Amino acid sequence: MIVTIDGPAGTGKSTAAKRLAAALGFEYLDTGAMYRAVAALCLEAEVELNSLAAAELARTSSITFQSGRTMARGMDVTEFLRSPEVTRAASIVAQHPEVRAALVARQRELAGVLNFVCEGRDQGTVVFPQAECKFFLTASPEERAKRRMDELALCGKHVSFEEMLTQQRERDERDLNRDVAPLRPANDAIVIDTTAISLEEVLKRLEAEVRRRLG
Ligand code: DC
Repeated sequence: MIVTIDGPAGTGKSTAAKRLAAALGFEYLDTGAMYRAVAALCLEAEVELNSLAAAELARTSSITFQSGRTMARGMDVTEFLRSPEVTRAASIVAQHPEVRAALVARQRELAGVLNFVCEGRDQGTVVFPQAECKFFLTASPEERAKRRMDELALCGKHVSFEEMLTQQRERDERDLNRDVAPLRPANDAIVIDTTAISLEEVLKRLEAEVRRRLG
């Protein structure tokens, strides 16, 4: 069974997806981390972000997840992936059709056999249109920026609310307006607005729906 969770950043998607997978005994695939890993490799190799060379890195580099760590070309890039630099670069790298094609192929390969919760922007629309259960999480831009600001503050990085909103708007625009796999809910996705509900409540709804479909 494949469960997809899509939506913009700051909707609580990652935490919900991780915890849902644990509650169900499913594997968890963080596809955002794959785009971030390619961005990190481009920055490291000084490769232009929106380029065929970036797509080549996406096709040929090993990107693996082990015990909560992300490895790219044998390097542990876990912390680097959450940096503002990589966050911005990932949003640009993700616009390139050939980068997307390379990562989509890997995502299908990875989640082809076991039960998976797959999280990203295009999991229900493009990567797994046949998924048995699809969710799309949303939240107001202000709430999402606040959550991301709090998350960064936990790692000692302080960004103003206005700056956070501006950066978020830029990334949202790239996600929504790119030519390939723009961010939108699948026709058969359940849309949940998380602005005013707790993570526990979101999780409860997701789990109840998946269990209902599992029968
Ligand atoms: O979910 P995230 O913030 O870790 O994603 C990082 C970037 O990758 C973000 O700019 C959107 C992009 N992305 C994407 O285009 N498609 C996905 N399936 C997952 C992420």
